[in-house]
Amino acid sequence: MTVDLETIIDLAKQRGFIFPSSEIYGGFKSSYDYGPLGVELKNNIKRLWWKEMVYKRDDIVGLDAAIMMSSKVWEASGHTSAGFADLLSECIKCHKRWRRDHVDDVCPDCGGALSEPKKFNLLVRTHLGPVEDESTQAFMRPETAQGIFVNFSLVAKASRKKLPFGIAQIGKAFRNEITPGPFTFRMREFEQMEMQWFYDSANNNNWYEFWKEQRMAWYKKIGIDPEKLRFHDHAKDELAHYAKAAVDIEYEYPWGWGEFEGIHDRGEWDLSNHMKYSGQDMRIFDEETKEAIMPHVIETSGGVDRSVLVALMDAYRSETVDKEERVYLAFHPSVAPVKIAVLPLVKNKENVTAKAKEVANMLRGRWLIQYDEAGTVGRRYRRQDEIGTPFCVTIDFDTLEDNAVTIRMRDTMEQIRKPIEELKAFFKKQFN
Ligand code: GAP
Repeated sequence: MTVDLETIIDLAKQRGFIFPSSEIYGGFKSSYDYGPLGVELKNNIKRLWWKEMVYKRDDIVGLDAAIMMSSKVWEASGHTSAGFADLLSECIKCHKRWRRDHVDDVCPDCGGALSEPKKFNLLVRTHLGPVEDESTQAFMRPETAQGIFVNFSLVAKASRKKLPFGIAQIGKAFRNEITPGPFTFRMREFEQMEMQWFYDSANNNNWYEFWKEQRMAWYKKIGIDPEKLRFHDHAKDELAHYAKAAVDIEYEYPWGWGEFEGIHDRGEWDLSNHMKYSGQDMRIFDEETKEAIMPHVIETSGGVDRSVLVALMDAYRSETVDKEERVYLAFHPSVAPVKIAVLPLVKNKENVTAKAKEVANMLRGRWLIQYDEAGTVGRRYRRQDEIGTPFCVTIDFDTLEDNAVTIRMRDTMEQIRKPIEELKAFFKKQFN
């Protein structure tokens, strides 16, 4: 189902997924903080991505490079030039600035005329050290990819990798976006999960198609509705300065289709530019052919924040049960922040609560568990539905006799009875 943006923003805040940043000071445009459930959702997505890209393959290794790098990196990569810029127009009447491709001919706020568009570079600048001059200027990385390129030779050597192989990285990136929003879709500080795939272009040119299909399949595997996913091929005039070809994986957001991952054919743009600017040989030596090869690169570049937003919006469900609205988040079990809720049927009944705490402790550690004894069991189920907990385990008086519990499924509300000793094996199967 399609959910409107306001409903998601409200649920995200009330249930502890995503908060507006610095709210006590009136907020800070374009920044958001992940609450107790948001950080779990985000970590689950990152962990699943790392598992898929690094642990399940023996031809991809990980990296965690610094956010602030030599300014020469950004000259070589082309990010300090006009290529990494958006067109900006200023309203002649209210002086508000707009990204030209996001507005029509007049200011969306006051209807004033817009100035001729100017190129606006998106790099976020800072100064390192006590003196603020040209020599201490540094940039916050606008993509994690360059940390991978500048370390390419070191990684290849240290991990004894031969072409083709990949380097994966998850980390923060920064862009001075002219018009951030909606919500976490476009921010100035965000996180990426990127993989650069290095290959010999003389041997195989199908990697672009291969990675395109792999990445789309992964989003389906983690539960995103295939009906709301599509590819969007970039036309020549849409291509980033480094790309020979590019395709976006798009989701149908409440405001329309939009990108949340890009697959890019970067050719030898980055490595050959770093070779030119640094004077270091970025090629890899093939022991068999005794040739130095300049690898070509296919990049998979996913947004962590946009994937979280997609997972949240895609999971939203609302239905009428017993004449009341039931809202639930139908997260895939692997993505759900809280995996299991343990609920004693009655409160303050020594034996029942003691047993429930025992069951919660038995499951805790491997999975994120919530123990809840406040309110009627019906209300407690609804609270768990709203945060997307796939399973509720209820302990009742019968548990004390038969050592079995009731497991209630979030999506179907179906209930089954299971012996406590089988719980761990049962959940292990569900979460794998
Ligand atoms: N290294 C290639 C690269 O950065 P991109 O298409 O500019 O490519 C990749 O960005 C992904 O990073 C996007 O699909 C999006 O998910 C995320 N992203 C980019 N800019 C963003 C922003 N301002 N806020 C949130 N996510 C962003």
